[in-house]
Amino acid sequence: MTGMLTTRRRDDGVFVLSLDVPGEKLNVLSLGLLDEFEAVFKTIEGDATARGVVIISGKPEGFIAGADIKQFVAVTTAQEAIALASKGHELLNRIETSKVPFVAAINGICLGGGTELSLACAGRVASDDPKTAIGLPEVQLGLVPGMGGTQRLPRLVGLALGLDMILSARNLKATKAMRAGLVDEVAPRSILEDRAAALALAIAAGKRPVRPGIKLVERLARPVIFSKARSTVMAKTGGHYPAPLRAIEVIKDGTAASLAAGLEIEKQAFGELLVGEVSRALVNVFFATQDIKKAVPLPDPPPEISKVCILGAGLMGAGIAGIAADSGMRARMKDRDDASVSKGLGYVRGIWEERRKRGSLSSREVSQRMDRVSVATDYSGFKQAELVIEAVFEDLNVKRQVLKETEDVTSETCVFASNTSSLPITDIAQNAKRRDLVLGMHFFSPVHKMPLLEVIETKDTARRATEVAVAFGRRIGKHVIVVGDGPGFFTTRALSPYMNEAAHLLEEGVSVEAIDKAMRDFGFPVGPITLLDEVGIDVGAKVQKILHHAFGARMDPPKSMEKLIADGRLGRKNAKGFYRYAEGSKSKEVDATVYALMPEGAGRKAMDPKVIQERLFHAFLNESAYCLQEGILRKPVDGDIGAIFGLGFPPWWGGPFRAIDKLGAKAVLETLKRLQGQHGARFDPAPILAEYAGSGRRFY
Ligand code: NAI
Repeated sequence: MTGMLTTRRRDDGVFVLSLDVPGEKLNVLSLGLLDEFEAVFKTIEGDATARGVVIISGKPEGFIAGADIKQFVAVTTAQEAIALASKGHELLNRIETSKVPFVAAINGICLGGGTELSLACAGRVASDDPKTAIGLPEVQLGLVPGMGGTQRLPRLVGLALGLDMILSARNLKATKAMRAGLVDEVAPRSILEDRAAALALAIAAGKRPVRPGIKLVERLARPVIFSKARSTVMAKTGGHYPAPLRAIEVIKDGTAASLAAGLEIEKQAFGELLVGEVSRALVNVFFATQDIKKAVPLPDPPPEISKVCILGAGLMGAGIAGIAADSGMRARMKDRDDASVSKGLGYVRGIWEERRKRGSLSSREVSQRMDRVSVATDYSGFKQAELVIEAVFEDLNVKRQVLKETEDVTSETCVFASNTSSLPITDIAQNAKRRDLVLGMHFFSPVHKMPLLEVIETKDTARRATEVAVAFGRRIGKHVIVVGDGPGFFTTRALSPYMNEAAHLLEEGVSVEAIDKAMRDFGFPVGPITLLDEVGIDVGAKVQKILHHAFGARMDPPKSMEKLIADGRLGRKNAKGFYRYAEGSKSKEVDATVYALMPEGAGRKAMDPKVIQERLFHAFLNESAYCLQEGILRKPVDGDIGAIFGLGFPPWWGGPFRAIDKLGAKAVLETLKRLQGQHGARFDPAPILAEYAGSGRRFY
């Protein structure tokens, strides 16, 4: 691709390189750019009056989003990957050692290779636009930064922050970046180029900005800093991801050596990780997130949503209101009484206050957000809403009732979405006047953290209604899958047999800890029994009943769940479940008295974790296959994204369908048949698996 860079010489002798990659919404770095830079170097080196270079983006949306990931996929060996990285390194080294100082003028997002390019410059100026954010998210793709980021970032901002940014993939906003020394100046966007040019001239005149660098105390505390980073990563990832652990090594070894040696160490790690299984899977997940966007294209411009009204100011309703206000929309919550609405309001404020304390929101930003949230105990203010989302109790009659009331007070075009976690939307919409405007919008708890939104269409749902729901979901930054209607849709349904199986294991005498540990070790972020406590044992039992009613013996629930509820065990919410919760503390311990309510009593038996993992994992895979077969899922990719981002399915498996492809449909089918022989109808294999096993077909 050519024509990405345009060069302009200012009167002050500063060249402005404007990057605008054709056909892309955001700039990405690719090999083609190298040749263009070659020409630029020639021009600058041939101009004796050149005094500086400013690199700026020609795109309004951002500076550079990173390297072009498509180029990674074509690479098949570590050697090729290292060669690819070497080309990037050569360019950046040339920028870094240029006699004429380069300055990056950063507006909007600046990630990965974009950040690394800026780090090779002699200076950086960021715009004060709220969208400006600088980071190195490579670990999310199973990689370490491969264009010098692991070396130049810590050398610029210090070990602690450098490690933190690389390991957590956290971005810094402009002011924070300036405080950290990552950028030298923050300027209004209108004068960004001028300020960057001025910085280049100042550097050319010998005035180097002061940067923190690696502090003396950090040098002294190196062993502690790196071992702490390692234990934090282990605690967070269970050691399932090689990239962050490798990043620690690269930063440790690299910063103890020269920059050149450090860059070599980085290149090696980048190359090896790039062709590793985990990175390959994570890159596939990344492409899958792009594919689901293409599957539901939105009209241009997308449907306008300026106001959303929410029924129920409970945990979910308040979470939805908060995230809508976060994204600039007005949100109005209605609940039954003053106490409920103020509780909801308190919850929303609490989330923002926490972010203020961490420094990611200013007090002004908190109050601006609070101004966008209003509450009521009646339907006042619903008339102007483009979208109403209900998050009242999980009760069909209550949901039907609020739908009816909403239709009476909203405009003819207002979309009504239910955040039910299990009830079929068709049932909720049964008596609706405008059935074409009813759909499901299934959020996950906590709403501000969980990255998925599952949109559920009934056979009556109009395309425009889906577009409104999808537009809302994308605006609040979620991965949105659109699925068909049925009890539990996709996510709740796929999770159900998995959770059910965990409960059956408990009844068979396996301990709570053993089940939770087996699945955490397998790669789920929390164990199923902990999850049941979090969701609420009563809620779980209710959902299970609905699915059992719909799907019969495959969802056969264990008997003791009702006994638990009768014993007043609801889970985390009343601090009494499978675990005991100390007040005000995050820690929990198993409440062994729970075993008295189970057939095997207090005596717990040991079980090979592999057996536990096999049963739960296969229950999940099987139900996902049913969902595809029955058209609840339109495509395997929706199931994979839904499972990873909504249910914490281990990402390196790539989702249930990638997992079946990897294991082979035949092997999955055989395992299911064996489990069916041992445990009965709970493992009745989905017919689609037999079809794929027979023909050797793959989901991808
Ligand atoms: P919650 O019990 O915290 O909140 C429900 C709120 O609805 C309460 O504040 C209640 O006063 C209010 N309410 C009840 N009837 C109402 C009415 N007629 N008009 C206005 N407000 C009314 O429950 P939560 O957890 O927020 O769940 C709400 C919905 O979201 C349920 O359908 C649930 O299945 C679903 N959901 C829950 C998830 C979770 O993890 N908690 C996840 C995804 C969906």
